[in-house]
Amino acid sequence: MPNQVRIGKTDLYVNPIGLGTNAVGGHNLFPNLDEEAGRELVRNGLANGINFLDTAFIYGPKRSEEIIGEVVKENGSRSEIVIASKAAHKFVGKDIVIDNSPAFLKQAVEESLQRLQTDYIDLFYIHFPDQDTPKDEAVGALKQLKDEGKIRAIGVSNFSIEQLKEANKDGYVDVYQGEYNLLNREAERELFPYVNNNRISFIPYFPLASGLLTGKYDKNTNLEEKRGKFFKKEFFEDTLERVERIRKIANAKGAEVTHIVLAWYLTREAIDVIIPGAKRAEQVLHNLKTLEIQLTNDEIKEIDQIFQS
Ligand SMILES: NC(=O)c1ccc[n+]([C@@H]2O[C@H](COP(=O)([O-])OP(=O)(O)OC[C@H]3O[C@@H](n4cnc5c(N)ncnc54)[C@H](OP(=O)(O)O)[C@@H]3O)[C@@H](O)[C@H]2O)c1
Repeated sequence: MPNQVRIGKTDLYVNPIGLGTNAVGGHNLFPNLDEEAGRELVRNGLANGINFLDTAFIYGPKRSEEIIGEVVKENGSRSEIVIASKAAHKFVGKDIVIDNSPAFLKQAVEESLQRLQTDYIDLFYIHFPDQDTPKDEAVGALKQLKDEGKIRAIGVSNFSIEQLKEANKDGYVDVYQGEYNLLNREAERELFPYVNNNRISFIPYFPLASGLLTGKYDKNTNLEEKRGKFFKKEFFEDTLERVERIRKIANAKGAEVTHIVLAWYLTREAIDVIIPGAKRAEQVLHNLKTLEIQLTNDEIKEIDQIFQS
């Protein structure tokens, strides 16, 4: 597996194993989060080859961007690190509304720059679509920021295929970020063909199905202690059987389930890089070992079949 790849048509080159940081300072998403463990996992990742960090305003909120800003500054190699961030959530009193208006996006980028302690963001996404703003106008605002040198590439996330087409009317969208994993392959139907034909790179989120696809759970897992949609009883049990079949492939290669799953995504034409999340440094280091895996065509097909529903 190459150790640096280009993200679509951008001028960003990164390790294909990036790092998702919603659990770095993401206190609103994960109860009892250990902020220091988050800081440490980013540090460790950067020291061991990670050079692509995925964050967003809403992780924290704000705290993930702030911690990344601090760790990147302390690291001292800003130009060698590719930072992606996202915005769309606006606080109105205690409520959150989604806003894609050009004025909001421009202000959001300025505020992200401050929190990240940098004068450019490598990849900036509209995190969620709003109801009102024409999507090409929203992306037009990011194009202006790109022309001003404040961002280097343009992304959209969680857009429907119609919204993506509207957003990309002028061909300015570089990256689409959406949920995709072996348990949810919906993106293969319409999004993958579109991104493949339009030089857009697809970055999947939830690649490990929040940990379920790492092979660390079994039938004795107490599901009441687990949060999130991947841990519903029937779905969970059905997935365990499939994960055991992946474990056989992993054992035969002297690898582990996580590495087989992550390596499989990188065989998809639409995908250049992945951003598995982590709560501790050892998970980041473990996930980086995916780089050592080369899947054969037969293995790629077998994995595909195991997860055909
Ligand atoms: N655009 C969007 O709307 C959107 C939405 C969601 C996520 N994202 C981005 O995508 C990234 C990835 O998604 P995600 O982090 O939510 O889910 P994920 O990558 O599917 O799962 C990450 C979780 O799996 C567990 N894990 C990771 N590596 C492991 C290993 N080697 N061994 C055992 N367990 C391991 C950790 O949780 P435990 O230790 O608790 O098991 C970790 O927090 C996020 O960090 C974020 O940057 C974007």
